[in-house]
Amino acid sequence: MTIDVNDLGGAGGGRKQRALVLHPDIRGNDSNRSAEAALAEGLSLALALPGIDVTGGLVVRLPRAQPGMLFGSGKVDELKSRIETDEIELVLIDGRVSPVQQRNLEKAWGVKILDRTGLILEIFADRARTREGVLQVELAALSYQRTRLVRAWTHLERQRGGLGFVGGPGETQIEADRRAIDTQILRLRRQLEKVVKTRELHRAARRRVPYPVVALVGYTNAGKSTLFNHLTGAEVLAKDMLFATLDPTMRAVVLPGGLAVILSDTVGFISDLPTQLVAAFRATLEEVLEADLILHVRDIAHPETEAQAEDVETILTELGVGQDVARIEVWNKIDLLPGDDPRRNVAQRRDGVCAVSALTGEGLADLIEAIGAALGDERRVETVRIGHGDGRARAYAYAEGIVLSEDGDDDGLRLTVSWSARQRARFESLCAPETPDAD
Ligand code: GTP
Repeated sequence: MTIDVNDLGGAGGGRKQRALVLHPDIRGNDSNRSAEAALAEGLSLALALPGIDVTGGLVVRLPRAQPGMLFGSGKVDELKSRIETDEIELVLIDGRVSPVQQRNLEKAWGVKILDRTGLILEIFADRARTREGVLQVELAALSYQRTRLVRAWTHLERQRGGLGFVGGPGETQIEADRRAIDTQILRLRRQLEKVVKTRELHRAARRRVPYPVVALVGYTNAGKSTLFNHLTGAEVLAKDMLFATLDPTMRAVVLPGGLAVILSDTVGFISDLPTQLVAAFRATLEEVLEADLILHVRDIAHPETEAQAEDVETILTELGVGQDVARIEVWNKIDLLPGDDPRRNVAQRRDGVCAVSALTGEGLADLIEAIGAALGDERRVETVRIGHGDGRARAYAYAEGIVLSEDGDDDGLRLTVSWSARQRARFESLCAPETPDAD
């Protein structure tokens, strides 16, 4: 099958490398998604990378992977003519390609090859916005490179002009390269440790502020950032590109209805996330472990929505997020479903599911209600007035970390607090009898 992506809206402007996406469909692969859907995802990934002009994509069916070139020699020749006709400079192979296969294919086709892991690493590198994100991607890229040293050495040898030592540069050079990478990895790990420590301090500080944490998770492009923006009014880069969010963004918000929560937007999950990346992003993803409530955002209009949901659940389980953490499945993008689609009204039939459109706002009021209910609706924001003599109540409110703002006049102070019924009762018991006057 072939997909022509001329109409898919790849970014224009500037000289871009012409790229072709190949999805190897190896017989007997027990994948839970169709080869065509996998190719479509490969194409979306490629389109998310700036600087390349994606000319099209192909599913290449294979009885089995060939150790030398991945594809059989007939296929290699056939693809070579397409590569030449279309003046392709970069071939993105949406699958695993060994260093040897990569080297051989690059030679046979005269193009650069990037496999799925390499592509995802490139996208993550392009999108990382915080220092932690940058360090994590660098670390992942180096660990990946370390496993591909065969390639690094041929490359180095070419640079040296191929002196023609019998047997090539041999183990010594590979060893030296490996040591250089190991030193760099160590340096990055140390830097990352520091950043992670800072994050832990932030986390500890947040624990003292007794807001429940609500984490948004979901397959990449499900609409997490759009929902986050809608709920917080925040501007978090939301584009029709995979992985628009790389670093979790946290924001304390008071939801309509008065419930104060910390909303956390996390990275988009994807199937076959390179293991190096999962490891590197563990610290970031661990934010999810801290959550009081997980909103699993799903693109319900996507043809592969079930497979995507399974992938997300698998990654959550790998992270150690148990089924005991409260969860709401947010079926997003219902505006794209036909008017009579039964999934629009799923919330009436199934507990723990809310159907919404983060784009139009449909269903969000119900979602907010469901969030409140899941969190026990414990905290409410109120403004209270206290007298100057109510120092103990004020001190208590600050010690509990429930004060959002304070201003005063001659008669006393106005405190805006986010509190539970228990805290409210305790506060009132510390006030002089006629206060507080709820505003
Ligand atoms: P990653 O950062 O890649 O994980 O993506 P994300 O889950 O944060 O998705 P994002 O919010 O960036 O949305 C992806 C695309 O889907 C954007 O083009 C959004 O405009 C679009 N989108 C989000 N919600 C809806 C919705 O309810 N309806 C429709 N039609 N489009 C939506």
